Amino acid sequence: METTHKGRRKLIKILILSVISLPLIGRFLIPRIKHRKVLLRIKKAGVPGGGALIFGQKKIAVIKENKDVYALNLTCTHLGCTVNATTKGFACPCHGSVFTTRGDVVKGPADRPLKKLAIEEQGDDVLIMS
Ligand code: FES
Repeated sequence: METTHKGRRKLIKILILSVISLPLIGRFLIPRIKHRKVLLRIKKAGVPGGGALIFGQKKIAVIKENKDVYALNLTCTHLGCTVNATTKGFACPCHGSVFTTRGDVVKGPADRPLKKLAIEEQGDDVLIMS
């Protein structure tokens, strides 16, 4: 009689631990879906070929080279100042880092390229995502 109670208690403990641990295990087994936020919506035709649209308030540059449209975050990767557009790319007014139009570092102290933002085309519009 005593052994059946112990067996039942053990089974209940295992069930309770299983129920508690399932969400924790699932967190590691199920990949997290990253929800992107739309930062900007613009007309594709509004981006000048070989040029860029600068959205200073949002710190975003939308650039069109040939038929390739891409967006860069204008936050300097050194210490976070906002970079300025130049004829050859971008320059940081704080410590002098220089970046190409693709965001690659030409001159430090920044050692990482400007962050490229995700783009999604929807008909005539281009969505710039976080
Ligand atoms: S913050 Fe841009 S170079 Fe330092």
